[in-house]
Amino acid sequence: MERNKQQAIYFAPMQESTDFVYRRAHALHFGGIDKYFSPYLLLQKDGSLKKSHLRDTAPDNCQGYNHVPQIMAGNSQDFTFLAKHLNDLGYEEINWNLGCPYPMVTGRGMGSGLLPRPDKIKEILDQSLPMVNGRISVKLRAGLVSPDEIFEVISVLNSYPLAEVILHPRIAKQLYSGTPDWELFEKITGLIKHPLAYNGDLNTTDDFENAQTKFTSVDTWMIGRGMLKNPFLAMEIKGVQLPARKVRIELLENFHSEILNSYTTMLSGDSHLITRMTKFWEYFCFLFPNPHKSFKRVKKSVNLSKYELAVRENFMLLRSEE
Ligand SMILES: Cc1cc2nc3c(=O)[nH]c(=O)nc-3n(C[C@H](O)[C@H](O)[C@H](O)COP(=O)(O)O)c2cc1C
Repeated sequence: MERNKQQAIYFAPMQESTDFVYRRAHALHFGGIDKYFSPYLLLQKDGSLKKSHLRDTAPDNCQGYNHVPQIMAGNSQDFTFLAKHLNDLGYEEINWNLGCPYPMVTGRGMGSGLLPRPDKIKEILDQSLPMVNGRISVKLRAGLVSPDEIFEVISVLNSYPLAEVILHPRIAKQLYSGTPDWELFEKITGLIKHPLAYNGDLNTTDDFENAQTKFTSVDTWMIGRGMLKNPFLAMEIKGVQLPARKVRIELLENFHSEILNSYTTMLSGDSHLITRMTKFWEYFCFLFPNPHKSFKRVKKSVNLSKYELAVRENFMLLRSEE
């Protein structure tokens, strides 16, 4: 019987991991994801968009699943430009990044760099929302340096017609380590007027069930690293009957081949291809018997034939397990 059918699972945006190649392959081979969020679009200093960003949101590259692109903007001009660009491509929902913790971004007053400045968030929303179409959602952290920052931010967000708010309850300083602040998240559930989604450290069905027990009013969950480590996770959470182990391994193999083939046509030279695939294996290796060794086997490949050999060996070891 399918459990948690009414729960929505979102695939988190992750630079360098959940690009259009990955999202398309995931949607094709697995299931259970209600929305795939793509990594943020950012205007370059000269006002243009990177080719890779254009490609990652080109509608032709993003067919077959529910896709929400994300923007990074620290002023209303950038916000409006990026949102209109996406509106023109046909996107009806756009996510605004108020969470990125990296100093390169926060130092320029973007991502979680805006969290200590609720007045600036208000100004950006005031000036941008009348100019853009469709739904705007926000993904944010608890704060830049202190979790106290979020309270004023939530009170600002409450006055705008947002589609939803996704909260990763860590401050930027923590990056991705330490524990999420469960108590803070609980407090926000009582203060926010918008639909609220939880994000952070949901790596297993047990993690999901614990979170669900804690936050009974929440029915939307965003998962990043847990999905990359186990592409079946959303299906497991939703209680979808998984195929037999042999078929699951075949699915993983096909998923890997699909991704490798796509990058083979996009990247020139073994070295670029292997670097890209090594990034993929940083998380994919967790499905294999000895993740660290499986990862190293792939990482040390010096050319494509060695890479393919390493991958074959990893799958052989996975098959021989149990
Ligand atoms: C390598 C990496 C890249 C990320 N890129 C983005 C991004 O482009 N936009 C964003 O909103 N969050 C980004 N995140 C944050 C994730 O979307 C997510 O909020 C975070 O990983 C916590 O969720 P998880 O514990 O389920 O992974 C990134 C995280 C990592 C580790």
